[in-house]
Amino acid sequence: MSEVLMITGGASGIGAATARLAAEKGYNIAINYRTRESEARLLVDELNASGIKAYAFQADISRPADIERLYREVDEKLGRVTALVNSAGIGTPPARVDETDADQLHYLFQTNVLGLILSTREAVCRMSTLHGGKGGVIINVSSMAATIGGRPGASLYAATKSAVDAFTLGLAKEVAREGIRALSVRPGFTITGMTEPYVADPQTLAEIASTIPVGRPGLVDEVARPIVWLLSNEASFITGAFIDISGGGFTIPGLSPLQARRS
Ligand SMILES: NC(=O)c1ccc[n+]([C@@H]2O[C@H](COP(=O)([O-])OP(=O)(O)OC[C@H]3O[C@@H](n4cnc5c(N)ncnc54)[C@H](OP(=O)(O)O)[C@@H]3O)[C@@H](O)[C@H]2O)c1
Repeated sequence: MSEVLMITGGASGIGAATARLAAEKGYNIAINYRTRESEARLLVDELNASGIKAYAFQADISRPADIERLYREVDEKLGRVTALVNSAGIGTPPARVDETDADQLHYLFQTNVLGLILSTREAVCRMSTLHGGKGGVIINVSSMAATIGGRPGASLYAATKSAVDAFTLGLAKEVAREGIRALSVRPGFTITGMTEPYVADPQTLAEIASTIPVGRPGLVDEVARPIVWLLSNEASFITGAFIDISGGGFTIPGLSPLQARRS
């Protein structure tokens, strides 16, 4: 029986790159999208041409009823999910907490945290051996922001990703004996639509690159490849872990004292 992989926010960025690489491994794939219907359709055509079964499903992950409908539709088209990548997520324009709008804050948490948890609930109901499933793997796309409280102006985004990590850890223990592995991946700054405004400005990009030990942002395939590996049985003893995919995390720009002495 084929594995069925659900990718939320799968029509773009890290989600779409994961879909392309997972198709090479033979997964049948459900691409969830919110607004990007044409990108989702093009991607699904490309995936189907590679010989697997793929479908696109519209659902807003911030809406609980949409999530339930999404999983029911996937059941009908592809069968029970056996792998899930929760990639749907949003950032916020840089802002301090004293500039925060309550509605924006609700939407941020509804998408990045509550939506991710409810998507996971639906997956566990299908994967868990307690519910007649055959097990599975759940990968939550968190962020290095969780480890440092975010870059300046991103404390709220960071708070959502810390919540994702705490949830992932508890979840992993909860379902470990039901055949399910659960992990967070924590990308650092990666070139996608989400970071496009920063990438488009050469000075901002150079400033960000100077804070990354390897000296450059990540590419989507560099995040997607470890995700697909973590989904596989090669990672069968890895659960409840946070995998940093970040070019070394964060560093303070400028020469180290050792380099300074040498120059
Ligand atoms: N790029 C980075 O540097 C970076 C670093 C760390 C973590 N991440 C995380 O990586 C994940 C993927 O982001 P990305 O960088 O690949 O950017 P992206 O291309 O913007 O992908 C995010 C996807 O999530 C979808 N989405 C947002 N809200 C949704 C909702 N309510 N329901 C369903 N789908 C929704 C977006 O679709 P719509 O546009 O239609 O809303 C979009 O397709 C996010 O969770 C992000 O926080 C990214």
